[in-house]
Amino acid sequence: MKNKNMKALTPSQIVNELDKYIIGQTEAKRAVAIALRNRWRRQQVTDALREEILPNNIILIGPTGVGKTEIARRLAKLAEAPFVKVEASKFTEVGYVGRDVESMIRDLADFAVNLVKSEKELEVRAKAEEMAEEKILDILIPPVKKASQINENEENHENNEVYQNQKTREWMKEKLKNGELDDKLIEFDTNAQNALGMQVLGPFGMDDLGINFQEIMGNIMPKKKKKRKTKISEARKVIAQEEAQKLIDMEAVQKEAIDRVQDSGIVFIDEIDKVAGGGKSQGPDVSREGVQRDLLPIVEGSNVNTKYGVVKTDHILFIASGAFHVSKPSDLIPELQGRFPIRVELNSLTQEDFVQILTKPENALLKQYNALLETEGVKLEFTGDAINEIARIATEVNEQVENIGARRLHTILTTLLDEILFDVPDKLPSEKVKITAKTVKQKLDVIVKDRDLSKFIL
Ligand SMILES: Nc1ncnc2c1ncn2[C@@H]1O[C@H](COP(=O)(O)OP(=O)(O)OP(=O)(O)O)[C@@H](O)[C@H]1O
Ligand SMILES: [Mg+2]
Repeated sequence: MKNKNMKALTPSQIVNELDKYIIGQTEAKRAVAIALRNRWRRQQVTDALREEILPNNIILIGPTGVGKTEIARRLAKLAEAPFVKVEASKFTEVGYVGRDVESMIRDLADFAVNLVKSEKELEVRAKAEEMAEEKILDILIPPVKKASQINENEENHENNEVYQNQKTREWMKEKLKNGELDDKLIEFDTNAQNALGMQVLGPFGMDDLGINFQEIMGNIMPKKKKKRKTKISEARKVIAQEEAQKLIDMEAVQKEAIDRVQDSGIVFIDEIDKVAGGGKSQGPDVSREGVQRDLLPIVEGSNVNTKYGVVKTDHILFIASGAFHVSKPSDLIPELQGRFPIRVELNSLTQEDFVQILTKPENALLKQYNALLETEGVKLEFTGDAINEIARIATEVNEQVENIGARRLHTILTTLLDEILFDVPDKLPSEKVKITAKTVKQKLDVIVKDRDLSKFIL
């Protein structure tokens, strides 16, 4: 298998995993699951044919706040794939803020390098920690002679300096391991550049050329050692980190990262509808159609220079998303439309969906607030009626003011819980706070009306 790192989840397993976080939107989940599995399938195909099989790029269409970004984000996590999210509209602004379209591939490469590097760090961690321990030990009790040089047959162990040194070191090592010395101060050498976390900024646009200015400067400037004095617990971390860097072959990391980007990278292009519909926007902005034309070669497959090497974009999976309120997918230039063969619509969320979103996902909002207040020893309890009421109000406000989907739940909950969050722990003595439908009504009815009012004011 070419890429053993690609996780082999079946489509239904992928949907099951997504179900843990996203309510409903089955069609979208199925589409991304198939696209992901197809990529794995492609890996199994013979070399010649593999190059021919193209990824199933997808356009997710749906109103704001119904889970488009969330699905893509969770998918990337599941696949353990390099993932970046960009806003298509960002590319319409030239100059300082705007970036060229290829930068998304460079960001993807950066992401992949960090991903692979942290995996490797995990692999060498035990060894690096051991080495750090030895180094600290060397500072505390410098070795007289290596252990292997002790003559086992030598009589008079007790008077032997080497033997004594060895014994003390072992005793010290034990203490070190137990963490007994953690708070003691120690002075040690560290790589000055790392210690300062210094960033060398290249001249403007260097990044866009794919040149690693930092690396060039790093190689030109001599590696200076710097003395640092910290607690042993901290020193252990710093030294282990440095030792880990030495154990990792960065060249191999970069090569693997590039492979990963090419075979399993996912680019999520948000707000694609904002660049649909051609025409020039005002001022010095690049035309929207211009952005589409720039996107075309990347989605179609081209070579992009990054500071780690050339990335072929042919098999990167692109998931575009947009509300398409004003424009339609058919307003995209035909060549680009053809590159996103799969269209999936996401549904508006209903009151029943809101009830589930509040309670079911592993990161459900109510679970989050529960966890927050639990840290203060307060148990938050919502009755079923209260949850229904919150969902009902969310639906109502979405209908009356503006439909912002599940994001409405955030605004409603922060308002609802505002007092409790402020009063805990000073004013609220009780260990249990119960929220009933009545509480919700009392607290929110005014605001709902207020929103109604603000609709006219705004
Ligand atoms: N179907 C859903 N199930 C669970 N949570 C959801 C769902 N839809 C949205 N959310 C939650 O609502 C918030 C916004 O969702 P998301 O970022 O996916 O919106 P979006 O569809 O990408 O909207 P936009 O078009 O504005 O980018 C997130 O916190 C997400 O967890
Ligand atoms: Mg989004």
